[in-house]
Amino acid sequence: MDAFKLYISRQASSFGRYIWEQLILTLFGQMPTVVGVGLRALAYRLIMHLEGIVAIEKDVRVRFANNVRLAKGVYLDEGVYLHACPGGIEIGENTFVMHRAELHVYNFRDLPKAGIKIGSDSLIGEYCVIRGPGGVNIGDRVYLSPAVHIYSSNHECGDPDVCFIDQGITAKGVTIEDECWIGAMAVVLDGVTIGRRSVVAAGAVVTKDVPPHSLVAGVPAKVIRDFRRNSPLEVTAA
Ligand SMILES: CC(C)(COP(=O)(O)OP(=O)(O)OC[C@H]1O[C@@H](n2cnc3c(N)ncnc32)[C@H](O)[C@@H]1OP(=O)(O)O)[C@@H](O)C(=O)NCCC(=O)NCCS
Repeated sequence: MDAFKLYISRQASSFGRYIWEQLILTLFGQMPTVVGVGLRALAYRLIMHLEGIVAIEKDVRVRFANNVRLAKGVYLDEGVYLHACPGGIEIGENTFVMHRAELHVYNFRDLPKAGIKIGSDSLIGEYCVIRGPGGVNIGDRVYLSPAVHIYSSNHECGDPDVCFIDQGITAKGVTIEDECWIGAMAVVLDGVTIGRRSVVAAGAVVTKDVPPHSLVAGVPAKVIRDFRRNSPLEVTAA
């Protein structure tokens, strides 16, 4: 019984909500083609906050749907996973979330800053993973290339006599300001702010704040260019 309660508590805000959300997702979640997209734009209003017309492909997995808010023009590609425990997920106007991206608030400890907010006209590429226990704030016109990972928490692990699981976590949060481009397979770690119009090179691991208008690369990521002093990199598409 305890395992059952634990399972439900990780899926929805209450048992009643679990039944209701699963019913709607089961009835409409797998319907193919533009007909399915149209029906979900109507039916999913019953379980989440949809502001205007959105396009949700089939096989999008949603948990804690009442904590999800999508603005008009949002596109969720097939296989996207939104897990919106307290703190919730907000996605701004005309933002696209591509195939198999996973946005997981991961707030099972009542963390005060938890949540994932993405601004307008942004793109979350295929297979990206965003975890929001410390809060992840992504601005407008931000492009995440495929398989970017963003983590807004860390396990404490400094005490050699205690397993990391028992040492607690820190969760400071991650901010990516407007008009940044994050290259494929980059990893952004907790506590980092990436300043406006910066670029993160493919495969970089960002451990410290990035000043605005910078290009950072490597592990750990270092500034290798200041766009205000050199000719700017052309950033037109992810
Ligand atoms: C960061 C990036 C934009 C730089 O492009 P660029 O301005 O043409 O830069 P250059 O190729 O002239 O490289 C400049 C320096 O950075 C280094 N560099 C470039 N990309 C790097 C990377 N991903 N990691 C580490 N170093 C990198 C280069 O080796 C070069 O070093 P050097 O001066 O010692 O020779 C590009 O390399 C990159 O990583 N793009 C991301 C691609 C991507 O994710 N595409 C997905 C599209 S959806």
